[in-house]
Order: sequence, then C-alpha cells, then structure tokens
Amino acid sequence: MTTIAVILAAGEGTRMCSNLPKVLHPILGKPIAQYALDAVASISDKEPILVVGHKADEVKQALPENTRYVYQAEQLGTGHAVQQAEKLLTGNTDFVLVTYADMPLLRSETLENLVETQKNNQGPLTMLTVILDDPHGFGRIIRNEDGEVQAIVEEADASPKQREVKELNAGVYCFSSAWLWKAINNLKLSPKGEYYLTDLVEAAVSEGLKVCTVSTNEPSELIGVNTRVHLAEAAKIIQERINHAWMLSGVTIADPHTTYIEPAVTIAADTVILPNTHLQGVTKIGAECVIGPNAIVRDSQIGNYCKIEASVVESAILEDHVDIGPFGHLRKGAHLAEGVHMGNFGEVKASYLGSGTKMGHFSYIGNTTTGENVNIGAGTITCNYDGSQKHKTQIGNGVFIGSDTMLVAPVTLEDEARTGAGAVVTKDVPAKTVVVGVPARALRKIESE
Ligand code: UD1
Ligand code: MG
Repeated sequence: MTTIAVILAAGEGTRMCSNLPKVLHPILGKPIAQYALDAVASISDKEPILVVGHKADEVKQALPENTRYVYQAEQLGTGHAVQQAEKLLTGNTDFVLVTYADMPLLRSETLENLVETQKNNQGPLTMLTVILDDPHGFGRIIRNEDGEVQAIVEEADASPKQREVKELNAGVYCFSSAWLWKAINNLKLSPKGEYYLTDLVEAAVSEGLKVCTVSTNEPSELIGVNTRVHLAEAAKIIQERINHAWMLSGVTIADPHTTYIEPAVTIAADTVILPNTHLQGVTKIGAECVIGPNAIVRDSQIGNYCKIEASVVESAILEDHVDIGPFGHLRKGAHLAEGVHMGNFGEVKASYLGSGTKMGHFSYIGNTTTGENVNIGAGTITCNYDGSQKHKTQIGNGVFIGSDTMLVAPVTLEDEARTGAGAVVTKDVPAKTVVVGVPARALRKIESE
C-alpha cells in the first residue's frame, strides 16, 4: 500500500521578520523544510509534495529535485492547502500523510507509527496528538465520555471549557486517500474565513467513522518554527540529538553545548571533539583525532590520528597523522599528506604538501606542490599572484626553505635545494643548490652530507 506525503509550506512566516522564506532558514546548515523532507523519506519511496505559496520560486530552488510542488496562490487555510495536492494524488496512492514544513524536530519513527496506525484503522484518518501543560495556540482534541475523538476545535473558536483541554492537535495526519478527496471538497469556510483541515475530524465522526490518534511522548517534536526564538530552540534540540548520537557511537564530545555538528558530517570512533568546535557541510573525520578547541572544519576530509587546534579548515584534505594549529587556515584545495605538521599562523590554499612536510610558523602557501619532508621556514610566502594571474610553485623532496623566503611564482625548487633566510627567489633553483639574497642567486652546491 502506498503513502505519499504532503508538506505544507505556503504560509508567509511573518513573525520571522525576514526576507528569507521561513522554511529556508537553516538549522545547522540545513533548511528547516529539508528536515521535514528527510523525516518523510522513510515512510514512502514516492516523491513528497510540498505546498508552496509565499516566495514559491525561492523555496523550490533551494530544495532538492526529488520533490514535487503545488502552488497555493492564496493562503485560505490548511484544508485548502492540502486540496491543492488533489490533482497529483487522486487515484495514485492509498494514504496521504500531511505534515508541516516548519516542524524540523518531527522524527521519522513518529511518522511511521502514524502511518502504521492508519493502515490498521477502519476509519479514514489518524492524527498525531500531544499533551502539553501550556496548550497555547494549538487546536484542542475533543473526546466524548467513551474517550472517542469527536472534533478538533481551534483555539480561536474554543469555549472557555474547551480551552482547558490539554490534548492538542499536532497538525500531522494520515488519511485514507479516497475518503480525503471526497471530504475535503465539502469543507465549509470557518468563522475566520479559512478552510480548516481540522474540520475533517468532525466530518468523519458525523459519518460514523473512527478517528485514531497517535501521541508522542516527546513534545519537543512538535515545535513549529514561527519566530527566531523558536528557531534557536529547535536548533538547540537538533544539536543535542546529533551530538548524542555521535557520543553513543564512540565519539567523545567534551562540551556538547558548544559543539555544533551538521547533519551530513561523519566521525569515526575514538575521536575527541573539544569545546567550541563547528563541523560543517560534508565533512568526514577519521578515528582517534583531536578536533578543537575552537575549530571550524567545513566540507573537508580528515584522516585518522589528526589534530586540529583553534584552526579553520575549508574544503581541504588531511591524510593521517596531520596536525595543524593553533591558528592555521586551510582553504579550498589544500591537501596535506600523511604526517604534515602545520603550526601557528599558516595559510595553505590549492596546494599539496607532501608527507612529512613541516611548516611551523607564519607562512602562506598557495598554488604549490611540495615533495616529501620539505621544511618551510618561518615567514615563507609563495608570491603566487602577479596582479592578474595565479602562478605555480613546485618544491621537490627534502627542500629546505629558510625563514622569510619569498618564492616568486612561477618557480621551481628541485630536490634538496635550500634557500637562505630572507631570500627572494625569482628563478628556478637546481637540485642540491643553496640560493641566497635578493634576488636569490646560487651560493654553492651541497656536497653529500
Ligand atoms: C494548525 C491547526 C491546529 C494545530 C496547529 C499545530 C488547522 C485549522 N489548525 O493551526 O489545530 O494545533 O496547526 O501547529 O489546521 N499553511 C499553508 N497554507 C495555508 C495555511 C497554512 O500552507 O493556507 C501551512 C503553514 O505554512 C504552516 C502550516 O500550514 O506550515 C500550519 O499553518 P498555521 O497557520 O500555522 O496553523 P495553525 O493556525 O497554527
Ligand atoms: Mg493559522
């Protein structure tokens, strides 16, 4: 039996006070709506349908292609929103799961439970409820003396007695498709001038059909993001969930409150994450590393036994046993082979540093390839930019670059070449040759030592 999800996302989200559509606000780098899409992925292999309205094009562009969209031109209520999906769904699915794009904490397990319950329900719908001490804003679940659901009453339309009800409508439902499309077209305008999806409960009951409920024991799942305060609350909980999962899989997180791991990051066991660390984008971290304190690692691959202290690593590759920091900056295309050491205040961009290379202090290496075991002295700069173009520096195996050397690219230093402190190297340096001065010239050949 098939199920297709309809995710409501047409609302304007005015309380965000934002140019960006509400459902595109990121939590740990991922748009809120993407959390909703991910949550429904496990209940169906059919593409979900997102009902868009406010800034529809912007929303579509930011979300993945395996989503279908329907447009709700005017926001005439949740019932009207679901109705927009009718033409795509009639006759195509047995069940329709309805949820909101602004509830990023809803878990797949909860949705699976809802769908399973509806599959066993003779009646046309099952809905998700929650019991909260502060029911503010939610529709109230009205039951009869036998405990059977009779209706959902919106807060605005509720009597004082009904307002005291603490069992609330989460806004998430699973409908039998055939019944849904028949009933939804009979919805009447509410006093507020909207078509309420919630009125379908009363409609089912009036036909003598059974409405089932599934309740979640984790009320935070239902946090809907309407303001930036909710955004921060939801972000905190997602951060906790992610950190918790990594700790249970063998990663030490010294201070989960200040550790921000985005959903697409992977970390192998026995790695230690120290406080104030941000692991972002598609980042992969190997085993037995120490990351942080104060590290930002974005879209990078880190091998095993690496150490990254107080540094920023972006779109870079670190092989095993690399250590960087404090205060290193790896930029796009930096590739540090096994055992590279990069100390204070170094920057590497679009460069390969061969294994065992050491770059201890205050250097900039850009558009460069080095061989193995190169020593990059303090203050070495590759002058890779002539004002209009970038040029390459090639450094061979075992080269020793003296402190404060300027390597004016394009330039090549062959194996075991050396530069004296303060050299400005404008010409290629042959193997085993020492160059000194400004501009650097050969001083002597190195005899075998
Ligand atoms: C709705 C429920 C309420 C429930 C609450 C849970 C109705 C009538 N009420 O109330 O019982 O307790 O959710 O959060 O359904 N949307 C559209 N198009 C529209 C209207 C809404 O796409 O025309 C989307 C919104 O973008 C939002 C979601 O539907 O994601 C819910 O809309 P909202 O106005 O927040 O519903 P509530 O009034 O809070
Ligand atoms: Mg509303």
